[in-house]
Amino acid sequence: MEENQIPAHIGFIMDGNGRWAKKRGMPRNFGHSKGAEVFKKTVNWCKELGVKCATFYAFSTENWRRPADEIEGIMNLLRRYIKDLRAMTKENTRIIILGDISQLSEDIRLELSDIMERTKENDGFIVGIALNYGGRGEITRAARILADKAARSEIAPEDISENSIEKLLYTAEMPPLDLVIRPSGEQRLSNFLIWQAAYAEFVFMDVLWPDFSKNDLISAISEFSQRSRRFGGI
Ligand code: FPP
Repeated sequence: MEENQIPAHIGFIMDGNGRWAKKRGMPRNFGHSKGAEVFKKTVNWCKELGVKCATFYAFSTENWRRPADEIEGIMNLLRRYIKDLRAMTKENTRIIILGDISQLSEDIRLELSDIMERTKENDGFIVGIALNYGGRGEITRAARILADKAARSEIAPEDISENSIEKLLYTAEMPPLDLVIRPSGEQRLSNFLIWQAAYAEFVFMDVLWPDFSKNDLISAISEFSQRSRRFGGI
């Protein structure tokens, strides 16, 4: 594949962990644990294949509706993977957390802020992790910041543009989103990167996230490379 056929930024909706575990008669958190291993492998596959940035949907603002033990399980997985994120800081990888982390436990919040700060200058690869993230909330947050500036007369309403909104999204320093991959057979965006996905390609796959393999990634990229992207033109 030519370099321009490799997506610069892929979004992954890590779906199907619960069903994967259920099929094996195991608790849902067993599926999340497997899913977190696949997250780590997928980062490496993306790097090998020449992708520049990968964003993973780890916890949505709607996921708080899940049972407390499942939420606790996902947070504990994060605690475990923070060590791996720290290791990535030495590999010229930048970590960006998308979402409102102020609602997470203090230990996780402090670790994640520190990792983001320490990797700010890394330019080899970007890993985005959407945590307590929702696309509508992200756009609302940008609108509120701009409205506040307008109310203080720091900007005029007509200064508000797609560009000024984009600069306030969590993805401001990432390349444009080219491809969204959702395994597990569901065909929806579930409030993931809704602004950024306006011109992204979508590849939906039947595999459950814990079974997602390098071959699945290659096949999604190869499907992407055959799509004709016209961005509204002809
Ligand atoms: C969706 O599957 C998955 C989640 C809501 C959690 C994803 C979290 C992880 C993989 C672990 C933490 C992440 C990192 C980055 C260490 P589901 O539970 O909705 O599956 P189902 O549709 O089969 O029930």
